[in-house]
Amino acid sequence: MKIPFSPPYIDKDIIDEVVDSLNSGWITTGPKTKQFERDIAAYCEVPKVLAVNSATAGLELMLRWYGVKEGDEVIVPAYTYSATANVVIHCGATPVMVDVREDFLIDLEKVEKAITSKTKVIIPVDIFGYPCDFDELMALVNRADIKAKFNATTDEQKTLGRVMILDDAAHSVGAVYKGKKVGSQADAIVFSFHAVKNLTTAEGGAICLAFDKYFDVEDVYRQLNIKSLHGQTKDAMSKTQGGGWRYDIVEAGYKFNMPDILAAIGLATLKKYESHIIPRRKEIFERYCEGFSKYSWAQIPEYFSADKTSCYHVFPLRINNISEAERDAIIDKVMAAGVTVNVHFQPLPLLSFYKNLGYKMEDYPVSWDNYSREISLPVYPTLTDEQVDFVIHTMAEVVEKEYAAKV
Ligand SMILES: Cc1ncc(COP(=O)(O)O)c(C=O)c1O
Repeated sequence: MKIPFSPPYIDKDIIDEVVDSLNSGWITTGPKTKQFERDIAAYCEVPKVLAVNSATAGLELMLRWYGVKEGDEVIVPAYTYSATANVVIHCGATPVMVDVREDFLIDLEKVEKAITSKTKVIIPVDIFGYPCDFDELMALVNRADIKAKFNATTDEQKTLGRVMILDDAAHSVGAVYKGKKVGSQADAIVFSFHAVKNLTTAEGGAICLAFDKYFDVEDVYRQLNIKSLHGQTKDAMSKTQGGGWRYDIVEAGYKFNMPDILAAIGLATLKKYESHIIPRRKEIFERYCEGFSKYSWAQIPEYFSADKTSCYHVFPLRINNISEAERDAIIDKVMAAGVTVNVHFQPLPLLSFYKNLGYKMEDYPVSWDNYSREISLPVYPTLTDEQVDFVIHTMAEVVEKEYAAKV
C-alpha cells in the first residue's frame, strides 16, 4: 500500500467552479475573489476579509500596514514555519523568538518576558490547527504596565495604542475557540490556502480584520487592497468598469492579490468544508488516537480542550524516549513501507539563516524536544479507514521492532 502525505482535495464541483472562471473571460482578481472574501468573512464571523496570494503576503502586508520597520521587535514562536519570522526580517525588524509549550503553542510566560519598548507585534501561531491562547494574549497586551511600555510611532500604532496581535492562522481555518470559529479573536488573523492546507486555493491566503473597535475596517481594507496591488488606486477589474480608466500609484506597493481562478477552488471547497472535510479529518484524528492509545511509546497530541477544538490539520505524533537520529531512522523505515510521513517543523534556530543570525537551539528546549520526537502522519478527506489502520500498524511495527528495548 502506498499512502501519500497530503494530496489536495479536488472534486467535480471544484473543477466546475474553476472551469466557470476560465469560461467567464475574467481570471485574475474579480468577482470570485470578492465572493470568496465575503464567504470567509461569513464563515468566520469576522467584519472584513481581504484575500491575498499567500499567508506570507498577508502577514507581511499587516506588518507593513502597522509600520513595522528597522529597530522594531516582533515576538514569534521558535517552533513554526519560517514564513512567520521571514516576514519580520523582510520589514527590517527583529524576530524575537520564544519557546513553545508541550502542546506546541507559544509559551505565554515567555512572551511576557520578551516584551520590550521596541515590541510592535506578537505573532502567535495556531500550530497544526490548534488555536493559540487568544484571550490571554489580548489581555496581556491590554495590561496597563505592558501598554505603558509601548512606543507608538505611526498613526496606526497610536490608534491601537498597544502591541498588535497578528495571529498566524495558516493552519487553523475552521478551528474553534470558545465556541466561535477562529477569525475574530485577535487584531488580525491570517489564513493560508496553500496546496497542503485543509482548505486550499493552490496558493493563497486571507487576512481577517477583527479590530473594528479601533479602526474603520472598510477603510483599512481599502488601504490594504491598494498596498497589495502596487499602490494602485484601481484594480484591473474596476479599471474596465464605468468611471474611467485613469488610476494613480500612491506608494510602491506589493503584488499580493489573489486571482479569481484560484479563488474558484476556495469558493467551491468552502461549501463542503464544514459538512464533509472537517468531519472526515476529525474521524481520522480519532482513529489515530484510538489506534495509538494502546502503545506507551506514543504521545498523542492535544487537539481539543474545554475552550478549543482543532481543525485537524496536522497529526503530530511524538515517540517517547527517542533521539532525533532515531526518529529520522523510523521515518526512513515507515516511508520504505509505503507510508509518507513528514516532520513539522524544524525549529527556526536549527536553520542556517537563523543560526547565522545568532539564534541558538539550546535556548528553546521545549521546541527541540517537541521537534526531535515528532512525526506528522497523513490526514486528508480521501484517506480511508483501511489506510489509517495501515499507518498505525506500520508505525507500530517499526517502532516496536527497532526500539522495543528503549520505548
Ligand atoms: C505556520 C505557517 N505560517 C505561515 C505559512 C505560510 O503560508 P503560505 O504558504 O500561504 O505563505 C505556513 C505555510 O505552510 C505555515 O505553516
